[in-house]
Amino acid sequence: MSGRAEGKVVLVTGTGGDIARAAAITLAREGAHVVGCDINVELAEETVAAVRDAGGSMDSLHPLDLSVEGDAQRWVEFALARHGRIDAIVNNAKAARGGSGEETSAEDWRFTIDRNLTLPWLVTKAAIPALKESQGSVLFIASVSGAQFGTGYPGNTTNLVAYSTAKAGILRLSVALANELGAAGVRVNTLSPGIVETASTLRSYGLPGTPRRELVSRPALLPQRTGHPQDIANAVLFLVSDDASWITGADLRVDGGWAASGGVGPMTSGDAETLASRA
Ligand SMILES: NC(=O)c1ccc[n+]([C@@H]2O[C@H](COP(=O)([O-])OP(=O)(O)OC[C@H]3O[C@@H](n4cnc5c(N)ncnc54)[C@H](O)[C@@H]3O)[C@@H](O)[C@H]2O)c1
Repeated sequence: MSGRAEGKVVLVTGTGGDIARAAAITLAREGAHVVGCDINVELAEETVAAVRDAGGSMDSLHPLDLSVEGDAQRWVEFALARHGRIDAIVNNAKAARGGSGEETSAEDWRFTIDRNLTLPWLVTKAAIPALKESQGSVLFIASVSGAQFGTGYPGNTTNLVAYSTAKAGILRLSVALANELGAAGVRVNTLSPGIVETASTLRSYGLPGTPRRELVSRPALLPQRTGHPQDIANAVLFLVSDDASWITGADLRVDGGWAASGGVGPMTSGDAETLASRA
């Protein structure tokens, strides 16, 4: 431990998820007081236990539905009551429904835009006064699918249209807020992961080793392995820490080179089989 987040109060949304859990443990190990929340009580509690077992400091308020304006405000007030300041917000929570533009219902579209675009804005809005006081920072976890649609092969509608649209909106929201808040000393950035081994990836793309999963998750430029939550957590720590004090309005892709290669990994015989089965 080198104390890269020493004494910082860092709020992380959706701490029941695998990426947020790795980020919470990493931030706490580097000296941050982490304040988490989740709509899912069991997963939120598992993360608090994991952080505390590792010797870190973490509070959490759950269950909390951050898509409700009052809950976002309540969470920010909880953090301020505990610690008296907020140094960073990591907007990680997500929930998504739907598939292709043709098939997604209006209800699923609204649900997804609400959870992936409106929710992080509501949370950030509630924290802006405190962030101005601390000259803190905001980090939005976007996705490579926000800047570049597709997961590497034609006809893949599991890369949700509404989700990708919301993530594209996050890239714009982040730059807008970086401009709005820069003069007040608040940094605002996005981090765009490629496909990372998490429980939600397992639900969306199937087990590692199956052709479809291999096809979407294979990094194009670093083929020796797929992404892990810790790869994202390391980048979260960097962007939240003072090492990034001259970085704002930026998007950091952490995707094993997937987007740089055009989002298409090298084709193998397994890929051909997968494509043929979808024709
Ligand atoms: N896993 C990947 O491969 C991948 C790729 C690109 C981007 N991302 C992004 O990284 C972030 C984390 O991904 P993950 O795979 O760990 O996600 P996840 O779905 O496992 O975790 C998200 C967490 O947010 C919580 N949540 C959902 N709605 C909420 C609400 N209304 N209020 C409070 N909490 C709520 C969920 O309960 C869950 O614990 C997300 O922003 C995701 O879009 C992930």
